[in-house]
Amino acid sequence: MRRCVCPGSYDPVTMGHVDVVERAAKLFDEVVVAVLHNPEKLGTFPVPERMRLLKESLGDRPGVRVVEYGGRLLVDVCREVGATAVVKGLRSGTDFAYELPMALMNRHLSGIETVFVPGDPRYGHVSSSLVKQVSAYGGDVTGLVPDVVRDALKQRWANGG
Ligand code: PNS
Repeated sequence: MRRCVCPGSYDPVTMGHVDVVERAAKLFDEVVVAVLHNPEKLGTFPVPERMRLLKESLGDRPGVRVVEYGGRLLVDVCREVGATAVVKGLRSGTDFAYELPMALMNRHLSGIETVFVPGDPRYGHVSSSLVKQVSAYGGDVTGLVPDVVRDALKQRWANGG
């Protein structure tokens, strides 16, 4: 059984994330989508809401499950679920500069490898933070995030953020 972890804040999940998970599912028998805390980012959606949106966005894909691992090291999560690799998408050289030290640190800590997949150019401009900003000011994010996420964002801003 070849298993990987797709880690992230997923605050909220975007079409770029969905694409990476779908592609990881073609390379591995099981994909564990792990919602982890990023100490450098203030959250918008509470973790249970991020999980709900992820589950609804990914549907019932065989071999894909969504888990929450608050306050843990990614390498400990990988060890616990029996993953042999971490999979992450890269939109640009800026992403690579951000991801490379984490990949090296994770390999230093546990030997786990990180597999990078090139982000689909259709979503090269899509990030959770930009989508939130556009949506907060009334812009249309249809097609950049799953419809459930677009609706959850609208609802959030309607309720005062
Ligand atoms: O979606 P993000 O915010 O870019 O994801 C970053 C994340 C959550 C994958 C990263 O911050 C992480 O792995 N956090 C868990 C804690 C940890 O293991 N930190 C050391 C990684 S080198």
